[in-house]
Amino acid sequence: MAATVAGFVILGPMRVLVTGGAGFIGSNFVLRARETRPDWTLTVIDSMTYAANRHSLAPVLSELGGDGSVRLVEGSVADAALVDGLVADHDVVVHFAAESHNDNSLDSPWPFVESNVVGTFTLLEAIRKHGKRLHHISTDEVYGDLELDDPERFTERTPVNPSSPYSATKAGADLLVRAWIRSFGIDATVSNCSNNYGPRQHVEKFIPRQITNILDGVKPKVYGSGLNVRDWIHVDDHNDAVIAILEQGRLGETYLIGADGERNNLDIVRMLLEIMGKPADWFDHVDDRPGHDLRYAIDSSKLRAETDWRPRYGDVRAGLEATVEWYAANRDWWEAAKVESERTYARLGR
Ligand code: DAU
Repeated sequence: MAATVAGFVILGPMRVLVTGGAGFIGSNFVLRARETRPDWTLTVIDSMTYAANRHSLAPVLSELGGDGSVRLVEGSVADAALVDGLVADHDVVVHFAAESHNDNSLDSPWPFVESNVVGTFTLLEAIRKHGKRLHHISTDEVYGDLELDDPERFTERTPVNPSSPYSATKAGADLLVRAWIRSFGIDATVSNCSNNYGPRQHVEKFIPRQITNILDGVKPKVYGSGLNVRDWIHVDDHNDAVIAILEQGRLGETYLIGADGERNNLDIVRMLLEIMGKPADWFDHVDDRPGHDLRYAIDSSKLRAETDWRPRYGDVRAGLEATVEWYAANRDWWEAAKVESERTYARLGR
């Protein structure tokens, strides 16, 4: 059997290494690929920090009663020897592994430099040595923020202008990938996506924090005015776009992924309160995040012009309803992490 990955011909079943595959977006990618690309062989490397959860991969891990179709290797992408061996044994690497929470990067930036910059560098060197295909996952936050009334949205030509230690390390990683493409001719693509929501997202993030607060009888916490705008996309739509870029994208290119889901934080909280049967004003305003980005917005025309990808969740509300149901049905998955996360927020006064 031969597979073609953006001009790259692979003989036999495609062997895909997923970095950060026990985290939120990575684990959803593994489950989605399992469903839509059953001929792929999938291996996960994950350092299993607080943000990872092996139970997210339960359907595919034999030790958790799953079908055993995926191998989970515990280790860091910054571990050069481990990464070298794994890259050598795979055809394609999809690189999700990253520290990703802005509030944590303001509190303690070093893990972000280590995972996001040193980790990406380590992976790039293995990709270069073994001549493998890389897809690097990044964020729209590398472009900084927009005014609320700015008619512009981010495009692939927007200059990078990160605001936080988190987004600065992601911008650094993106620039390393671009340099390895140009200087060493590696076969790579990059995608920058907007805010994801959906099942298996850590409870430190905005939407699952508010859903689990409401489930616990605690009011949602809105930073500052709540007028900050994010461009929401369901995680399955993001991962389908990644698969489309792997199969149809052009090597060396960057693609922005977004589903036209701009909403301010107050709108999202009110939608959740309505879905969960609480009054519209049942939330607290808390101290704002320092340096809080005002608005993100993605123009995904290039991706839509060059691939057949289209988002399936056109309606944020329908996606949120399904997400609420998932958290209500999976308390075991999030309860311990919730205690830790709220302890940190209490210390930060948010
Ligand atoms: O844009 C993509 C980025 O989206 C990803 O690169 C990041 O990894 C991801 O964390 C996310 O960054 P944000 O900072 O936008 O996400 P977060 O969920 O932390 O916050 C979303 C918005 O909600 C933001 O305006 C801050 C606000 N917020 C957040 C929390 C946790 C609140 O008002 N209350 C909260 O309790």
